[in-house]
Amino acid sequence: MRLPGAILKRKIQQRFLLALIILTLGVLALKISSQPDDETNPEENLKKITPLHERVGKVNGLNIFFIETSGRSCLTARQACGVESAARANPHASITLFMEKTPIANLSRNNSDKDEVNCAITKFLLRRIENVRILRQNLLDHLEGTPLWEFYRNGLLNKSTTPLVHRSDAIRVALLWKNGGIYLDLDCIVMRPLDSLNNTVGTVRDFIPNWIENGVMAFSAGHPFLHFLMKSMILAFRPDNYLSLGPSAVTEAILDFCDRDDLPANTLLFCSRNSSLFIQPPESFYAIGSGRADVFYQPKTDLADWNKLKHSFLSHIYDSGSGRPVPPTSLYAQLARDYCPFTYRTSESHDSF
Ligand SMILES: *[C@@H]1O[C@H](CO)[C@@H](O)[C@H](O)[C@H]1NC(C)=O
Ligand SMILES: *[C@@H]1O[C@H](CO)[C@@H](O)[C@H](O)[C@H]1NC(C)=O
Ligand SMILES: *[C@@H]1O[C@H](CO)[C@@H](O)[C@H](O)[C@H]1NC(C)=O
Ligand SMILES: *[C@@H]1O[C@H](CO)[C@@H](O)[C@H](O)[C@H]1NC(C)=O
Ligand SMILES: *[C@@H]1O[C@H](CO)[C@@H](O)[C@H](O)[C@H]1NC(C)=O
Repeated sequence: MRLPGAILKRKIQQRFLLALIILTLGVLALKISSQPDDETNPEENLKKITPLHERVGKVNGLNIFFIETSGRSCLTARQACGVESAARANPHASITLFMEKTPIANLSRNNSDKDEVNCAITKFLLRRIENVRILRQNLLDHLEGTPLWEFYRNGLLNKSTTPLVHRSDAIRVALLWKNGGIYLDLDCIVMRPLDSLNNTVGTVRDFIPNWIENGVMAFSAGHPFLHFLMKSMILAFRPDNYLSLGPSAVTEAILDFCDRDDLPANTLLFCSRNSSLFIQPPESFYAIGSGRADVFYQPKTDLADWNKLKHSFLSHIYDSGSGRPVPPTSLYAQLARDYCPFTYRTSESHDSF
């Protein structure tokens, strides 16, 4: 049907007016909903993204935990991404974020816009993702009842020149030994369910051969290796070597405990006290290793690097805490967009991922 010019013009005007009214209402609604407390308006943002998950109110008994030792009150967006990704990929697990209650150093009490966005994201994780909880505690108390307690109480651990790192290394092992579960560094992006991981750690390829990282560790409570590891850590501790309670201590302890001089990947090692331990290949957690950290931040992504992540449970993101810019087309941004969409979009729109 053809409409005479005048009618057509009026119809277009009406449509235009209607569109204008809808737009105005929309802007108003947006203004009203963005009250100071909910600046990023998590609920609305969440609806725009995919519904989080169809939780049927069940937990599968899997504990996943993170540790933040600095004493800051909120996570950075990049840390929040780790928590969100773990919760999304493991909707039936319980995700716990242990945050230090007592800051040990002077942290800048600096209410920048970025902090505000970060705190809004942290609040969202706590309030809206059902399977995430945050515990604010004196985290060193978790060392009590472990071999590391004396080590701390007699002042040795306090001699560390990198106390945040060393405390985190110690506390994760104590918590694993006491509670079992999966410890993850906050700079991981989780892509798959982790419930098949048990008594396992991962190797990296592009570093020293047989090198085990401690950024991802899955153990059942009371696993004898963890007790052995804590005792070894005390001997391995060097106050001015930030790695001394981390990867090198874990690697040495496994070689000792399992009586080996190599650590073959994809292998179940039979170790002391009738226990066993599985060595994950680099693809599992550290497909892109520290030697190639640049890959995460380059504006162009190589398909070969995507393919490396195909068989990964998660990807540890090296240099995540360094503040390096994350271009929107980089591998890091693409992973964040896919696996922690709420955090990424909220922080990106405030230019603070
Ligand atoms: C923390 O900051 C205050 C004031 O800026 C200063 O007096 C104090 O010495 C600092 N403490 C440490 C442990 O750096
Ligand atoms: C606040 O943060 C900015 C940027 O992060 C920094 O340059 C500045 O020194 C900080 N101020 C204080 C008082 O910490
Ligand atoms: C170690 O340092 C913490 C915090 O600085 C302090 O509370 C604690 O008393 C120290 N412990 C020992 C044994 O020196
Ligand atoms: C994990 O390994 C322990 C042995 O250390 C075993 O008792 C437990 O059943 C295993 N858990 C799962 C979920 O396979
Ligand atoms: C290890 O297992 C063997 C047989 O399965 C058993 O005879 C032995 O007592 C166990 N040793 C320990 C330390 O549990």
